[in-house]
Amino acid sequence: MTDYKFKIILIGDGSVGKTSLLYQFCQNKFSSDYTITMGANFLKKQIKITKKHSADLVIWDIAGQFEKFGRFHDTFYKNANGALLVFDLTRIKTFESVDKWREDMMQVLGEEIPFVLIGNKVDLVQNIDRPIDPSDSMQYAEQRNSIYIETSAKTGENVEDAFLELSLRMAGIDSETLKKPKEKKKEKKKKKKRQMKKK
Ligand code: GTP
Ligand code: MG
Repeated sequence: MTDYKFKIILIGDGSVGKTSLLYQFCQNKFSSDYTITMGANFLKKQIKITKKHSADLVIWDIAGQFEKFGRFHDTFYKNANGALLVFDLTRIKTFESVDKWREDMMQVLGEEIPFVLIGNKVDLVQNIDRPIDPSDSMQYAEQRNSIYIETSAKTGENVEDAFLELSLRMAGIDSETLKKPKEKKKEKKKKKKRQMKKK
């Protein structure tokens, strides 16, 4: 039985990997060819979000070419319940555009909806100096009551997690409450350690 039905929009600059994330998530496929998205496409997938709840997701993959397709955003964003706001970890410009996309979404929808900030292509920044400081991305998300996740549409790293976290947020379920008490304790310890280090 499905408990929830959600529309998700994938937004962010061209070539950041929105289409690739969608196909990795829905079909476990990845292609290194770049086929530019014209307008928008969507795919559907059902996921289990808790032991007792599942959700039907309709995921709209929106073209990153803002100038060309921006005027269709009213139609594409309509009734969206949540968004993955995607940038490319190898290109700082795409991180600088994140706010433009968020503003566009809020303006079209007339309200804030849950989003998760995604730094994609993490497989490409393993052995290089990162052009974007992860603490900046984390800060951007946290200041807007959200979270930041790094993904790879190529390897699949964290892709399911990104959609799951967003679904939980759309359902109003705190993912913290789903964690086992032991896990929570471990995380508390880690956080304390980090804070001690900072001091
Ligand atoms: P638009 O449709 O123009 O908005 O672009 P998009 O955001 O949909 O980008 P798309 O998914 O088409 O990916 C652009 C290019 O980046 C393609 O060549 C992909 O193969 C590549 N790519 C996407 N995600 C990843 C990733 O996580 N790692 C690596 N190495 N390449 C990726
Ligand atoms: Mg695309």
